[in-house]
Amino acid sequence: MTFAATVLTLYPEMFPGPLGVSLANRAREEGKWSLDTVQIRDFAIDKHRTVDDTPAGGGAGMVLRVDVLAAAVDHALSLHPDCPVIAMTPRGKPLDQARVRQLSAGPGVTVLCGRFEGFDERIFAARAIEEVSIGDIVLSGGEPAALMLLDACIRLLPGVMGAPSSGAEESFESGLLEYPHYTRPAEWEGRTIPEVLRSGDHAKIAAWRKHQAEVDTRSRRPDLWERHKGVRVQSASGARRENEDQGQ
Ligand code: ADE
Repeated sequence: MTFAATVLTLYPEMFPGPLGVSLANRAREEGKWSLDTVQIRDFAIDKHRTVDDTPAGGGAGMVLRVDVLAAAVDHALSLHPDCPVIAMTPRGKPLDQARVRQLSAGPGVTVLCGRFEGFDERIFAARAIEEVSIGDIVLSGGEPAALMLLDACIRLLPGVMGAPSSGAEESFESGLLEYPHYTRPAEWEGRTIPEVLRSGDHAKIAAWRKHQAEVDTRSRRPDLWERHKGVRVQSASGARRENEDQGQ
């Protein structure tokens, strides 16, 4: 099945951009995913092809018009009725690997890119659109965020990544950051590769990697660490309850 990516944007020339090289490009050539861009301006209704207007209540910048957006979204929905519509906005729910995994397992995604101050809020009441942010930063538009979202989905499509296990072990899949990596030369500027990684003892290596992942997550991402600990405590008490229920 081809993963159908549709991008609604005022700057279609920004696509495929970085998705036109390397693994993503090869996957597109192989038909694993497709890309269609929709020019939002094509859905403007006046002779000047206006897509934005001043914010109600005053203030800086311009806001994307709801009537123009709705016409563009409805067009995309007619092309791919089963694909979720995602608007890229710093006001959205932070994107995470779990959502990326769900999306990549589906038929595709329709991505709405904002510019200016953002979207007229009524579009979200009138259409089923998920608002997604790629982090607590403000970009000049949703296009780079859309490229990130698509990149994350595409690399998970079957047959796109070389070694499937590298997906399961990497950062966030277990709720932790991934362990650190090393390769030859064994010594560089006086720094050596941790001895255990050269021991050939696979059990010891796995234990070391797990420990490092925990240490690094704890120091670099206390938020992830707290959640991970919570999940561990919950699943341990769940297991205890189950054993108690079974009279063990
Ligand atoms: N557009 C502007 N900033 C953004 C962000 N952080 N995430 C998604 N879309 C955006």
